[in-house]
Amino acid sequence: MSFTRDNHNNPGVKGLPYFTPQHAVSPGTPNAKNTAPVPTLFKPLSIRGSTLRNRILVAPMCQYSTAAFGPETGSLTDYHIATLGHYALKGAALVFIEATGVQPSGRISPNCPGLWSDAQIPALRRVSDFINSQGALSGIQLAHAGRKGSTAAPWTTSSKPGSKISARAGADVGGWPEDVVGPMGGEEWTWDGKSSTDPSGGFWAPRGLTEEDISQLVEDWASAAERAVKAGVKVIEIHGAHGYLIHQFLSPISNRRRDKYGGGFEGRTRLLIEIITAIRKVIPETMPLFLRISSTEWQETSKLGSWDVESSIRLAKLLPDLGVDLLDVSSGGNNPQAKIPMHNNYQVAIADRIRAAVKADGKELLIGAVGLITEAEQARDILEEGGATRTGNGTDGVEADIDKETKAVVQMTETKDGGAPQADVVLVARQFMREPEWVFRVAYKLGLDIGWPSQFLRVSFQKL
Ligand SMILES: Cc1cc2nc3c(=O)[nH]c(=O)nc-3n(C[C@H](O)[C@H](O)[C@H](O)COP(=O)(O)O)c2cc1C
Repeated sequence: MSFTRDNHNNPGVKGLPYFTPQHAVSPGTPNAKNTAPVPTLFKPLSIRGSTLRNRILVAPMCQYSTAAFGPETGSLTDYHIATLGHYALKGAALVFIEATGVQPSGRISPNCPGLWSDAQIPALRRVSDFINSQGALSGIQLAHAGRKGSTAAPWTTSSKPGSKISARAGADVGGWPEDVVGPMGGEEWTWDGKSSTDPSGGFWAPRGLTEEDISQLVEDWASAAERAVKAGVKVIEIHGAHGYLIHQFLSPISNRRRDKYGGGFEGRTRLLIEIITAIRKVIPETMPLFLRISSTEWQETSKLGSWDVESSIRLAKLLPDLGVDLLDVSSGGNNPQAKIPMHNNYQVAIADRIRAAVKADGKELLIGAVGLITEAEQARDILEEGGATRTGNGTDGVEADIDKETKAVVQMTETKDGGAPQADVVLVARQFMREPEWVFRVAYKLGLDIGWPSQFLRVSFQKL
């Protein structure tokens, strides 16, 4: 049987073992009928050898859906094709595969994916090929959970669906209590500060990494990156955020080492810089490299100091020379006691600050904004020259504006000040889970006529 063309002579997407048509217009891009002005949000963006078809990216989202035991451990499955595939089909520019462990002990849970073995490449290739076949770019977030590793999938930890309460995963369910690692070792260094025998705690006591372990770790990040390239992945993101291993090293609160990986800014950023350098060495020059950080751990008042926006700005200025193309600006995750002022600009304002500081230094670094981006106009304005919105300096403690009954975050009204764009791309997570066709919705709200997948063309765009 030949899968090479349909009866309209559409040759199909090459390199796949099945027929899927080449779309006349890539989903999520303006089509020939569009007469509306195209906002930056829907303009392509080239980064090294790859082009984003618009500026809406699916942020990495853990799904805890790979095998914890046996030969398939850590390998992606058809579940990932179905979930990530539909974001690609429905117009997202780049679809990130969730935090993927570069070592078995680098997974968050026993059911998280990994890329520590060549055996994991074919399954990744299937997911990546499908994403790429729809005109999106496949991305993977490489990660090491450090002292937040070996925890259980959230739905197993509480009767409340979606609960964020963590629970330890023991060896009986595929966990690795003996091999949870961090910059520091011992019971006093569990993430939540509760000893690993305390039934109310959710984390294991880490073992402090030796310099030898760190050399192996850096090699393993590079090997995982090489495997991602072999699997056809187009973009790699290093996970340096949310209190996972790299963040644990960056923060003076969680890193009190006295060797070359601790101490001042230079020591605490050393691991990250070694990882970036090792990855850049083994991936093609044409491949974009992204980095996600927690731009602040919301602990500015800590007596030990903290990883704050100023630290992020200092780091951001080093990134272009190291070969990082885009900084994805998230926050939090390293301290259970942190109070995060959640409102719909809480992280975007920080992205804006970092972008302005890097630009003022004459450096070229793309900035990604993420966090509570749910509305079309909001996404458009973040990227628009002259349409940017501002509230304070990004960490000035704007109080959460929460609806008392529904507990929902209330959108804040902000004034436009005619400034520069706040970011170059937006990354969106939960809104895509609510509404996988969010790109079509955004285009519709902004009055744009955009391409849909060929198979969906009998759906009327106006009726969305
Ligand atoms: C279910 C779920 C899983 C997540 N997994 C990851 C992850 O693997 N890596 C990561 O950096 N962030 C992860 N995040 C954070 C998101 O990427 C995103 O930064 C955050 O949800 C804020 O964006 P949003 O308001 O658009 O959801 C996850 C978020 C959710 C809701």
